[in-house]
Amino acid sequence: MDGNGRWAKQRNLPRHAGHIAGVETVREVVRISAELGIGVLTLFAFSSENWRRPREEVGLLMNLFLTALQREITRLHKNQVQLRIIGDRTALPKPLQDKIDSAETLTQHNTGLKLVIAANYGGHWDLTQAARQLYEQIRAGQITPEDVTQERLGAHTCLANLPDPDLFIRTGGEQRISNFLLWQLAYTELYFTETLWPDFNTTAFQQALRFYATRQRRFGRTGDQIQQDTP
Ligand code: IPE
Ligand code: MG
Repeated sequence: MDGNGRWAKQRNLPRHAGHIAGVETVREVVRISAELGIGVLTLFAFSSENWRRPREEVGLLMNLFLTALQREITRLHKNQVQLRIIGDRTALPKPLQDKIDSAETLTQHNTGLKLVIAANYGGHWDLTQAARQLYEQIRAGQITPEDVTQERLGAHTCLANLPDPDLFIRTGGEQRISNFLLWQLAYTELYFTETLWPDFNTTAFQQALRFYATRQRRFGRTGDQIQQDTP
């Protein structure tokens, strides 16, 4: 979700106004995703590198996250949304950690959209913590180094029991992954748009989904093989 700051700047507003507008986009995108029956929606809200921003902006973002959770959780729960936060939450402010814990517990058995929010998340961090878990298991004698397979490493990443993403959307004109789901994006369709996140409305979302619908997903196979398999 990129482009909040530039959206605000275009309007001669403080960056924070862009982040507030961005929260409204999140609400809309979540609503549409649930409506369309999308299984999982993962939003990159705050990266492990975003701490490098001015202290004031970081503080405002944390507050915004907390107030948005407080304000939205009842509605999300009512709409059967299952909420999960990925990332190193130990560095987040304590009130936010508590709210995250209670929101996850409240919605854990919901059967609708799985909404994953990446907060203090980084793909490098994710793979490192997965590797560390396996190392601990080896040290405890539970597994041997030969047991460290692709499947086992993947099973210790944050999105372990969820399917890999089908579509990646980056708003705001940059064409990079910026340390998002590095492991899980291996075969994901990548979609980049100039649209700034606060402007990413229903039409823009539908355009991204239409792009996805035109892609042929081969997963290493040939186009002919895929055509033979599709009735
Ligand atoms: C939002 O957009 C991303 C967050 C980290 C919350 P930006 O704040 O990166 O907006 P730009 O790139 O300055 O426009
Ligand atoms: Mg940015």
